[in-house]
Amino acid sequence: MALTENEMIERLRSTQKERRFKHTLGVMGEAERLAEKFGVDKDKARIAGLLHDCAKNLDEKSGEEFSAICAKYGVTLDELAKKERALIHAYLGAAVAYKDYGIDDHEILDAIYYHTTARENMTPLEKLIYIADMTEPGRELEQSNEIRRLAEIDVDEALIYAIGCSIKHVIRKGTLIHPDSVHALNYLIEHRRKKA
Ligand SMILES: [Fe+2]
Ligand SMILES: [Fe+2]
Repeated sequence: MALTENEMIERLRSTQKERRFKHTLGVMGEAERLAEKFGVDKDKARIAGLLHDCAKNLDEKSGEEFSAICAKYGVTLDELAKKERALIHAYLGAAVAYKDYGIDDHEILDAIYYHTTARENMTPLEKLIYIADMTEPGRELEQSNEIRRLAEIDVDEALIYAIGCSIKHVIRKGTLIHPDSVHALNYLIEHRRKKA
């Protein structure tokens, strides 16, 4: 059975570092605000925002311990995720939300699963969580203000810009780009072209 929202908050408070916990609450609030604006289910947006980084603390574990945790939660990793640990907290997060927080709503679980890579043909809830992760009030990324500005006008434009920023960041760091991010971007650009 799902935990109550307060129980979820208390569990996150006790497992996340202070900065991460603040970010978590920020994403929850921002996701709810965007949901209201764009006619998406507010309760699902709150819960997906609250739980999106629920496995982030686990990716600090050592390699072996971390692999054991992934196995315990039944998380299978594609070839790229095996090489880029930063992606795994999203996949693991969906499994932790299901098993430990009692979330069985697939829309919420998918929004958590794809909050780092995005994917082709995202649901409105997935889009909002991806954006809220980068625009919550505590985020001071160079690009946050532009994503915020675009999100007030058009979710897809905000998403195109946000995914582009993430890909540039990955290139600057010299890490690998997940194909789901490229597919997400291409899909949105093609869709924009059709609308024009
Ligand atoms: Fe995350
Ligand atoms: Fe996050």
